[in-house]
Amino acid sequence: MGFEKKILCIGAGYVGGPTMAMIAHKCPQYRVTIVDINPDRIAQWNSDNLPIYEPGLDKVVKEARGKNLFFSTEIEKGIRESEIIFVSVNTPTKTFGAGAGMAADLQYWDKTARQIREHSASHKIIVEKSTLPVKTAQAMERILTINDNAVRFDVLSNPEFLAEGTAIKDLEDPDRVLIGSRETPSGLKARNELVEIYANWIPRERIITSNIWSSELSKLVANAFLAQRISSINSISALCEKTDAEITEVARAVGMDRRVGDKFLNASIGFGGSCFKKDILNLVYLCRYYDLKEVAQYWEGVVKINEYQKERFVLNMLNAMFNTLAGKRVCLFGFAFKANTGDTRESPAIFVAKRLLEEKAELVITDPQALDNAMRDLEGVDGKVSFNEEPYVAVDGCDAVAVMTEWDVYTGLDFERIYRSMAKPAFIFDGRNILDHKGLYEIGFNVFPIGKPALTHF
Ligand code: NAD
Ligand code: UGA
Repeated sequence: MGFEKKILCIGAGYVGGPTMAMIAHKCPQYRVTIVDINPDRIAQWNSDNLPIYEPGLDKVVKEARGKNLFFSTEIEKGIRESEIIFVSVNTPTKTFGAGAGMAADLQYWDKTARQIREHSASHKIIVEKSTLPVKTAQAMERILTINDNAVRFDVLSNPEFLAEGTAIKDLEDPDRVLIGSRETPSGLKARNELVEIYANWIPRERIITSNIWSSELSKLVANAFLAQRISSINSISALCEKTDAEITEVARAVGMDRRVGDKFLNASIGFGGSCFKKDILNLVYLCRYYDLKEVAQYWEGVVKINEYQKERFVLNMLNAMFNTLAGKRVCLFGFAFKANTGDTRESPAIFVAKRLLEEKAELVITDPQALDNAMRDLEGVDGKVSFNEEPYVAVDGCDAVAVMTEWDVYTGLDFERIYRSMAKPAFIFDGRNILDHKGLYEIGFNVFPIGKPALTHF
């Protein structure tokens, strides 16, 4: 059967894989190909064990794969054959040279732009799916048109707002889809083509359009606002611990004001994930570049509070356990940066684990999905670490439990059994406030939530 459109996505990661699988699933009339330079990743996408854990993803991929959804390493062929190319390569924080530790590293992006230019013989729409600094589309246009050949390119910005763990739901029913374009006849035509793709399943009033720079900036700002809420509530959690106020009560009272809203007000050990820190630092770098020192400082504060919150958690543990952790066994409940994903990029658990090892604690790490990544993250780190998927086995003989990830499974555990198997005095540090603190205290634990008074037997 002939397909109405041939769509390519370069980059088969946490964004490229699920977003393109959703387009293929919703639009059987289009042929969707996802390519990547990493042959192992492509082999996994073509296997029964997908490279990422995401609830509902298996079903969507397996239904479309081989029909109108294809995973391949043939990037050049893909470019030649497609009309619309999404680019979803990684854009990590730069680790070298100017802007190191702040600016986005655009090397993968730049290489892709050159590759597209080299292998295109007909008009193409290029869609920025990766999160990028403002004005990247301009750089892309310049790279694409440098040869001055007859091929025309239209570059669009279409940032992705999915969150890991809920990616399929977010893609199926997004709050909004944002498409930015040049406001030229050709830019507007390209933009309408992309609108038509999403309109296959998303109500038109939720597909919003803007100029291309607003679109690029909106993505950075959306992440900065979300992270800012977490840093705001986490900063207040520190004050609650000093004043006997309870952070969940404060969050409820504040969040019930509809102007504030109740989402993203869960105090925690700090936010993680591959994007919040990277995107805020990117925003900070842009502000500095444009000499907006005060604005840069304001947003940098969000990252600083997050670092503070992680360190505060470790110091609270140290303080509670009589100022020494040397030789004590600590079980980390969870290692993923949030529940329902195996992703550990920038997970606060990495920071906590390294700090506890510096204090010479012995670690046992349990997580339902993230142990492979946890092992990689802690490879070569000095100290005693072991891994066990089974929480009851992991916690056996430990002095303390520290909850790092809000997996549902941890709330349903038999804590009387856990208490019996642990060394005494037994401690629980609930970095996610998901456990029944009073119940645990009554069992015999010394309980340290975030932003609430500790419950101790001393
Ligand atoms: P990822 O690292 O999981 O995936 C990127 C993929 O691109 C990798 O598989 C890599 O091998 C591939 N790649 C790199 N250079 C390539 C090239 N030249 N040719 C072909 N493939 C290449 O990253 P991700 O989490 O999917 O993020 C991608 C982008 O989306 C980032 O800009 C990120 O900020 C943004 N984003 C991520 C999320 C998320 O939840 N992870 C959400 C929204 C936006
Ligand atoms: C986030 C955004 O929510 C997405 O909209 C965005 O597309 C994505 O970043 C991105 O650009 O990568 P994600 O990082 O996958 O998604 O997950 P979130 O649900 O935002 O959680 C991020 C971190 O904040 C996690 O560590 C989570 O545990 C923490 N968090 C979240 C809190 O500590 N408290 C909260 O109330 C909410």
